[in-house]
Amino acid sequence: MTAVPSSERNSPREAPIASQIRFDDTAARHIEQLYRTPDVVAQRQQVLRALDPRPGERVLDVGSGPALLVEELAERVRPGGRVHGIDLSASMVALARARLAEQPHRERIVLQVADATRLPFPAAAFDAVVSTQVYEYVADLPTALAELRRVLRPGGRALILDTDWDSIVWHSADPARMEQVLAAWAGHCLHPHLPRALPPLLRAAGLRLEHVAVVPLLNPAFDPDTYSAGIISTIQRYAARHGVSSDQADAWAEDLRQRGARGDYFFSLNRYLFLARHPGDHAPSP
Ligand SMILES: C[S@@+](CC[C@H](N)C(=O)[O-])C[C@H]1O[C@@H](n2cnc3c(N)ncnc32)[C@H](O)[C@@H]1O
Repeated sequence: MTAVPSSERNSPREAPIASQIRFDDTAARHIEQLYRTPDVVAQRQQVLRALDPRPGERVLDVGSGPALLVEELAERVRPGGRVHGIDLSASMVALARARLAEQPHRERIVLQVADATRLPFPAAAFDAVVSTQVYEYVADLPTALAELRRVLRPGGRALILDTDWDSIVWHSADPARMEQVLAAWAGHCLHPHLPRALPPLLRAAGLRLEHVAVVPLLNPAFDPDTYSAGIISTIQRYAARHGVSSDQADAWAEDLRQRGARGDYFFSLNRYLFLARHPGDHAPSP
């Protein structure tokens, strides 16, 4: 990773051409596979520990994607509880429904296509709302967070987890090329540095922040069954379509694979977990 001054490292990378990733059938299958790696399994366990879903609770997963978290939530809220997952992508909902049709707790799960900014539920419908790796793709965050609060019962919990792509450390033979590729990749979502902006956004939505934790994804060696190995080709393809030459993007990916083969690989990326609570009957602060 390049030795940029800390002041620059802390400032958001500018994406040359922002173009949000599309969650189509191919992306849905890829994300399901990527989110089964031990890195993301461990992340889900940390999310579940922090959210602490209990028997009988009604839980909503906003942007449920492949619904791997929904599946675990359904196990934990029984008996009597219910888990709803909504996602903007029909591909994601179809993939998740197909897999969950085989699961023992499917009768307590409802999945539907919907937008985080227009949740199809009445006020105070849920004891807990969770959303992991989703709000970074949502343009209107104040509306999405106001919707989250609206569907949460007074005293209910909200858990949000997102990545700050400035936290990445990825060992490279060519730090300038790594910077260029990651700057292009920052355009794959609308808010690549969302965590640092979340506390005031949560406050403005009328949620009380109770706990923040860092959730690192750490791959000190190359292994195909890791998060970083799984996203190399996605970043390579994205960068080659967004301002990086194909030759540079290919060389970037090849360097990482070669480093892996000779045992000189290092990747680290931070996600941040925010646990907030609906404070009761207080109005949102201005
Ligand atoms: C990176 S995936 C994360 C999936 C899931 N939350 C997880 O952690 O396994 C992002 C998901 O957010 C969904 N998404 C993006 N914008 C959304 C919106 N406005 N409303 C609902 N879902 C949205 C995408 O369709 C995609 O399934």
